[in-house]
Amino acid sequence: MQLDGAVVIVTGASSGIGAATARAAAGRGAKVVLAARRADRIEALAAELPDALAVPTDLRVPAQIAGLVKATLDRFGRVDVLVNNAGQGLHVPLEQVALDTLRSIVELNLYAPLLAMQAVIPAMRMQGGGAIVNVSSMTSRMVLPGVGGYSATKSALNMLSQVARRELAPDGIVVSTVYPSVTATEFHQSLAAGGRVGGGGSGPTPHTAESVAEAILSLIESGEEEILLTQNWG
Ligand SMILES: NC(=O)c1ccc[n+]([C@@H]2O[C@H](COP(=O)([O-])OP(=O)(O)OC[C@H]3O[C@@H](n4cnc5c(N)ncnc54)[C@H](OP(=O)(O)O)[C@@H]3O)[C@@H](O)[C@H]2O)c1
Repeated sequence: MQLDGAVVIVTGASSGIGAATARAAAGRGAKVVLAARRADRIEALAAELPDALAVPTDLRVPAQIAGLVKATLDRFGRVDVLVNNAGQGLHVPLEQVALDTLRSIVELNLYAPLLAMQAVIPAMRMQGGGAIVNVSSMTSRMVLPGVGGYSATKSALNMLSQVARRELAPDGIVVSTVYPSVTATEFHQSLAAGGRVGGGGSGPTPHTAESVAEAILSLIESGEEEILLTQNWG
């Protein structure tokens, strides 16, 4: 997939990895569609980037996901890439996981990527192909006490992503998964519950949002199945 001229939807584009991905894709000539709840942030970013569209979206609301894809098709007439990036952490021991909090994380980290994939598939199929990147987490490839609720949502997303890759291959739709490790974003301040794993102080040096964005763009360009962004926990 060439990014130059491609129409790329990025969810969670108001900060962190999503904002960095949108900037980097626009830098390679993509027309980016920015989705998140904070309209002021995505509108400011869209104003900076050529041919970008901000679509304020609460991804926990299925009708708004459909609206995001419709707004994309109304503006650009096609959708080449979906980056399912929006997500939130839940970093407490399982004994403390509140069902309502877990439900809200499942809605954002699992249902929203599924619904967004379902929403773009018909257009991508008609176009003869497309690319989808699902943003998971290395916590889903480890057994890490304290993040079980969050990791469970990402583990489920991994399976959806891997099955979607096989189901959609005949339509030329290439589905990939990226597994970031600790990354310097607002993520650790906007957890649904809990605090940063390991507390303050020690821990790995965080990756930058820009380096994760590069991994996402390389998956779009190469069509490879996955990239694991491992980290040295010492
Ligand atoms: N940072 C890390 O250490 C790390 C590690 C592994 C994986 N990840 C994953 O990387 C992805 C991006 O996270 P990040 O690190 O860039 O965190 P971030 O800076 O907190 O960004 C999260 C994004 O998700 C959006 N979002 C949250 N709830 C939403 C909702 N209901 N509807 C629409 N958008 C919503 C936020 O926008 P609004 O608040 O404006 O809606 C924001 O743009 C997530 O899937 C996360 O699980 C992060």
